[in-house]
Amino acid sequence: MSSAQSPAPAKGPSHVAIIMDGNGRWAERRGVPRSLGHREGVQALRRTIKAAPDLGVNCMTVFGFSTENWSRPKDEVSDLMGLVRAFVGTDLKRLDDAGVRVRILGRRTGVPRDIVEIIDRAERQTASNTKFLLQVAFNYGGRADLVDAAQAMVDRAASEGRFDVTEELFGRTLSTADAPPVDLIIRTSGEQRLSNFLLWECAYAELVFQDILWPDYGQDALADAISQFKRRERRFGGREAQDAPASVSVEAAS
Ligand code: IPE
Ligand code: IPE
Ligand code: MG
Repeated sequence: MSSAQSPAPAKGPSHVAIIMDGNGRWAERRGVPRSLGHREGVQALRRTIKAAPDLGVNCMTVFGFSTENWSRPKDEVSDLMGLVRAFVGTDLKRLDDAGVRVRILGRRTGVPRDIVEIIDRAERQTASNTKFLLQVAFNYGGRADLVDAAQAMVDRAASEGRFDVTEELFGRTLSTADAPPVDLIIRTSGEQRLSNFLLWECAYAELVFQDILWPDYGQDALADAISQFKRRERRFGGREAQDAPASVSVEAAS
């Protein structure tokens, strides 16, 4: 513990997760097609990834497309798919060169074949990078992820005869198992809900809602969210402020 005269500097979040919302409203306010809002949203994502390491963040999870977003009109869904192709096509080399490991969270079923190939390639190519972990939630739903983990545990029980269920093992079966615990969840656009994002992982994350629309996001907005996080006192059920518990240990759970 630090002395009363010199309090330890507030710890920033290592893992930030973002619900990138407001592309449509950004476009509507300008009287331009929604597709343009989504395109500007990709620029905002580039700015935000670039700004993250200098703000002490080494893992970022972004919500790109939810299992519920298939209910949007066909041409909007197809615009969003096109952006994934374009983003990986133009940014993969730069991310790889910068030491970023890319992981895609979400079900592959229902995703166009060429996109599955693109995201598999992005994961393979960057698998050994260790400077920064970027997780893109795509065709992702928190409930689907929980159900898939439950199914994997049932399959394991059938094949290995292991019937134990622990929080640790369950957490390691989710698609986010490779990442450190989520410290901060940000949602832009003023909406204050999770919309099926990281339902398990949000248990002790701090939530910050910002009024800014996602296409306007970047370094200053991220710095502001982080400074809000630093003013929070995380107690994890105890009586005093604590740092986040260490991430799940693979040894402990096996
Ligand atoms: C977020 O922006 C992008 C996705 C959900 C894919 P929206 O398209 O939801 O924008 P709003 O909420 O309609 O403004
Ligand atoms: C959540 O935003 C999904 C993504 C940001 C990809 P939505 O715009 O789809 O969420 P709702 O419909 O407002 O809850
Ligand atoms: Mg929205």
